[in-house]
Amino acid sequence: VIDDAATAFGARIDNKFIGSFNDTVTVFSLHANKIITSGEGGFISTNNDKLANKIRVLIQSGLSKDTWGRKKSKNYRILNASLPGFKFNFNDILASIAIVQIKKITNILNYRRRLKKRYLDNLKFLIKKKIIKVPFVDRGHKSALYNFQILFDKKKTIYNVANFLQKKKIETTIHYTPAHEHSFYRKKFRNVSLVNTNYFFRNSLSLPFHNNLSFKDIDFITKQLKKKL
Ligand SMILES: Cc1ncc(COP(=O)(O)O)c(C=O)c1O
Repeated sequence: VIDDAATAFGARIDNKFIGSFNDTVTVFSLHANKIITSGEGGFISTNNDKLANKIRVLIQSGLSKDTWGRKKSKNYRILNASLPGFKFNFNDILASIAIVQIKKITNILNYRRRLKKRYLDNLKFLIKKKIIKVPFVDRGHKSALYNFQILFDKKKTIYNVANFLQKKKIETTIHYTPAHEHSFYRKKFRNVSLVNTNYFFRNSLSLPFHNNLSFKDIDFITKQLKKKL
């Protein structure tokens, strides 16, 4: 099994970290907008040594040894591709940033939990009145809190809200435009109708949520949001 856990570093299922399950290969993203980042790139976790070694070869153009490894062998001038690979290797400069970032994950997650709680406290009234819904996590599971979305009642258009907030210098995002709404796939799969996916696409908005956000920022954002709802 290959898990796409791009945004889920630090998340837990049944109190077990995603990426620590037996015999799975889990892929995490370090793209600039993730909760930890090296600007671009990502990393893979697996407890299967055989697969890990195969991945090391595949990402390095199929070469059995990377540049550093080759230098240590007698025959270092001779390249040997043992598999048809890809040029998917991460570079050492970004990896050194990533290692420092990974060490910060516990503090980052704790801070993001406090930010989420502040949003929930400030939005309590709107949630109680069912004007908005917020994501929930099942007992025993923990989200990595990549973003904070609110789901509106059908009658509100998220664009009105987003435009209003933008005028107050509050940037919001739509996570995400679903694949079947992109022009390439729309042409290819004309009759696809994904009712629930479209519902979330049209009615949910991601509010600012990042490691440099302050409680004061959240208070300002929620105050403006309440004015519009
Ligand atoms: C579920 C999922 N998979 C893959 C990606 C892409 O990650 P990257 O930009 O590192 O390729 C993202 C980016 O947000 C994502 O959310």
